[in-house]
Amino acid sequence: MIEQLEQIERQALGELESIQDDEALQRWKVNHLGRSSPLMKTFDGLGKLTKEERPIIGRRANEVKRSLEAAFEERNQGLRQVAIQRALAAERLDVSLPGRPAWRGRLHPTTQTLREMYRVLGEMGFQVYLSREVESDEMNFQLLNFPPNHPAREMQDSFYVDTGTQRGDNPILLRTHTSPGQIRAMREFAALNPQDPPPVRIILPGMCFRYEQITYRSEMQFNQLEGLAVGRQITMGDLKGTLSDFARRMFGQQVRSRFRASHFPFTEPSAEMDIECFVCGGEGCQVCKRSGWLEILGCGMVHPVVLRNGGYDPERYSGFAFGMGPERITMLRHKIEDIRYFWANDPRFLEQF
Ligand code: PHE
Repeated sequence: MIEQLEQIERQALGELESIQDDEALQRWKVNHLGRSSPLMKTFDGLGKLTKEERPIIGRRANEVKRSLEAAFEERNQGLRQVAIQRALAAERLDVSLPGRPAWRGRLHPTTQTLREMYRVLGEMGFQVYLSREVESDEMNFQLLNFPPNHPAREMQDSFYVDTGTQRGDNPILLRTHTSPGQIRAMREFAALNPQDPPPVRIILPGMCFRYEQITYRSEMQFNQLEGLAVGRQITMGDLKGTLSDFARRMFGQQVRSRFRASHFPFTEPSAEMDIECFVCGGEGCQVCKRSGWLEILGCGMVHPVVLRNGGYDPERYSGFAFGMGPERITMLRHKIEDIRYFWANDPRFLEQF
């Protein structure tokens, strides 16, 4: 009998050693400590033993039972520890690992060019004046001395917000250039002292809109940067000096510039300024189309009619104005060949700047 109990214990403890998971452990418990296990059967059979045998076998059976229960508990704890270790190992994080770099945004190439212009012209005494994008025909054309049948006023060239059925000959449109800001700014300045209006030295940046076929060289929306200086005895010499200085500060001290006669309704005389091609240095290349020169802005002396419309007496005041396209200048600088990239929102393009 004792021999049998010893055998049961050895067998059970032996099996226990190879158990690796909870399920097998529970099965082991049923097999060796359960109701119908050989050990429990021994307890059932105690009654059939002699008086002398009973206490000896009973004690031994109890010892084996406690021994198996203790072994079970120990194994159970062991398995739980292993499970915890495994879970911790799976969750372990390496605090010395370098972080993932955050994706950095950047300024749009046109914004970068505009900001450089603000900086250069700011140093030259020009302040930024923001004017509206939705304008009246009167501001966008009439007060700027456009004759009534000027081709730019055609439906094909402007985006009309309201075709003028209620507004007679002064419909609402999206500004086609930043020049109407000249009138708004002059009127605001003149209102400060109507008898003796203060001098003006401002730049007017912003979006302009034209009802145009979108191609690699023309978009229906684009930025302009307008400049306006009004005061006593401002001359064409001031215009040329200011704009050549701007070109040198913006494109490099060695850059030469030239003026060609042109025409705008709101300036007289009018000109266009070219700068020496900064790609080939004037030799002639693809960018300057072999001419050695790049056209970068329109300009002129503010027309007397425009000065008067702004509240400045053309007998006592004069001024100059200029307008340029930041997208166009960005294209020249970076040899960008298609203006449609500016609004395509393609990161492969934008990330290059
Ligand atoms: N407004 C003109 C344009 O859209 C540019 C310009 C501005 C020309 C100021 C002369 C003076 O082309």
